[in-house]
Amino acid sequence: MSTVLQATDLTRTYEVKRSVFGAPALVRALNGVSFELTPGKTLAVVGESGCGKSTLARLVTMIEEPSSGFLTIDGRPAVHTDKDLRRTVQIVFQNPYGSLNPRQKVGSILEEPLKINTADNAETRRQKARAMMERVGLRPEHYDRYPHMFSGGQRQRIAIARALMLNPKILVLDEPVSALDLSIQAQVLNLLIDLQAEFGLAYLFISHDLSVVKHIADEVMVMYLGRPVESGPAETVFAAPKHPYTQALLSATPVADPAKKRERVQLEGELPSPLSIPSGCAFHPRCPIAIPKCAKVIPAERLVARRQVACILAE
Ligand SMILES: Nc1ncnc2c1ncn2[C@@H]1O[C@H](COP(=O)(O)OP(=O)(O)OP(=O)(O)O)[C@@H](O)[C@H]1O
Ligand SMILES: [Mg+2]
Repeated sequence: MSTVLQATDLTRTYEVKRSVFGAPALVRALNGVSFELTPGKTLAVVGESGCGKSTLARLVTMIEEPSSGFLTIDGRPAVHTDKDLRRTVQIVFQNPYGSLNPRQKVGSILEEPLKINTADNAETRRQKARAMMERVGLRPEHYDRYPHMFSGGQRQRIAIARALMLNPKILVLDEPVSALDLSIQAQVLNLLIDLQAEFGLAYLFISHDLSVVKHIADEVMVMYLGRPVESGPAETVFAAPKHPYTQALLSATPVADPAKKRERVQLEGELPSPLSIPSGCAFHPRCPIAIPKCAKVIPAERLVARRQVACILAE
């Protein structure tokens, strides 16, 4: 199958000053992440707050460069200055309040990317904006309204429409429904699923919430402190997670069918800071099955039951 994006061993560190005089400390936000995106398919990236999800989104959208590793998009090396490539990847954020200009009407929000990036005249821009509004379920009269006049779900539709104006191949969705009510979440997810089928979009879908991801993911990558711990086909990983961290995450997610109720795995302790990542397997201090060796060796990813698992004990 064709690949529209290939990420190889991406890392991203940030220097932070902890005091006026001290040497800067290094935050390891992303610590060796590899994956591929396929047209028409969704890779879900899951993990607790601070595990590096948004950092990954900034690298994939070329807002930031990786500290090391390679990123290839549409067969070309991803560099910030490649304008065509930047159009190919668009992003939708969790909070459309922050990302939509409150002083712009919907019409002009949608037409702006065309104004900046194409030679379309005003009439063409208007037609394209109106067509996209219809496609995402906005009504024609919404064209002249301001973002604050919409509900959260509708505002997210505006953000999605704007992201699609330049016919991207890849959409990065950073917690796109996390701020919405449950019933609205389902509507927006269904819209995303329809749009993906229609335009053959590759999705990088970021969420801390496994129940959201279940509906839309083809592949899933579970991250812990900047590293993937388990990646593979979504149904395989969800049906029988092999990494103790995935097992813990899944056991914390409510299941609809009580007969399938999982045994709850309690995570011990707090999530460590990415300023001081534990030795060996970063998860070992919180792992219910850790042995002394886990504190010593960084587990390589290996194939276990049709998915990659970074755990020396998984079988
Ligand atoms: N510009 C920056 N400077 C310093 N540290 C940063 C910077 N950006 C991110 N970090 C740190 O890198 C780590 C990963 O952050 P990131 O925002 O990618 O996490 P996340 O998985 O998106 O979390 P959340 O679920 O809360 O959105 C965090 O510890 C964060 O504090
Ligand atoms: Mg984030």
